[in-house]
Amino acid sequence: MPAPSPSRSLDLDGTPVLIFDDSAAACLAAAEQIAELVRSAVARRGKAVLGLATGGTPVPVYKGLVEEHQGGRLSFAEVSTYNLDEYYPMSPLDPQSYRTYMDRHLFSLVDLAPNRAHVPDGTVPESDLEAYGASYDRWIEAEGGLDLQLLGLGRNGHIGFNEPADLDLDTALKLPTRPVSLHPTTIADAAGDFGGEAHVPRRALTMGTASILSARRILVLAFGAKKAEAVSRSLTGPMTAQVPGSLLRSAGSRVTWMLDPAAAAQLPG
Ligand code: GLP
Repeated sequence: MPAPSPSRSLDLDGTPVLIFDDSAAACLAAAEQIAELVRSAVARRGKAVLGLATGGTPVPVYKGLVEEHQGGRLSFAEVSTYNLDEYYPMSPLDPQSYRTYMDRHLFSLVDLAPNRAHVPDGTVPESDLEAYGASYDRWIEAEGGLDLQLLGLGRNGHIGFNEPADLDLDTALKLPTRPVSLHPTTIADAAGDFGGEAHVPRRALTMGTASILSARRILVLAFGAKKAEAVSRSLTGPMTAQVPGSLLRSAGSRVTWMLDPAAAAQLPG
């Protein structure tokens, strides 16, 4: 099936922004791009390394990838994956864990080797967290880096769980994979999944901006009116650690934003 084309495209200071008729079309187009990238990376270097995201946004992307696989057009046999984040502390078997989410939406449905499907481990002891984060970045580097990073965007502009922070730009662009405290907006947004704000973990492990921003391709998906402000602050406001999505501008045209009209409503043009 041919991938849907965007109904509008913008170039915002060198960053391509594609606006689709709706989120379903954007997700199909994203799945097609990822499938194509996997095929070409495997052909070129014998493997593909994907950075993956959770949340509601990418669910249809994974559905598209599973369909490609079931149709015999896409194999994950030579793919490694590194997820962005996990709550902390969190058992991988917990129904709310991002590991469970990935098993449900992708890992159990394709031919990806279990030992190549990485999600930050929410059971690592507190005293080992920093070293574990550094290892996660080293594993990615040892694979030759991420061929592609898939990203959603928090309502507060977060990427992964890199939350708004009071940091200078240089530090913000080079953050390692590490433990973090969740922002009040993130906790409020996760309340539905956990049966109330009181049950949302206060901490998480997140891939850092250093690994995210080094990916050779980055696809950012954001849909709906509730993301419009974070999208416009990321793309047209100052580049600042207060809006982690704005840090993606440092990656120039390696990043493509894929939006629906509601998420794009506050962009110029
Ligand atoms: C979550 C995840 C992010 C995700 C974001 C948006 O907290 N940690 O990786 O991109 O929030 O979630 P959603 O796609 O459900 O709007």
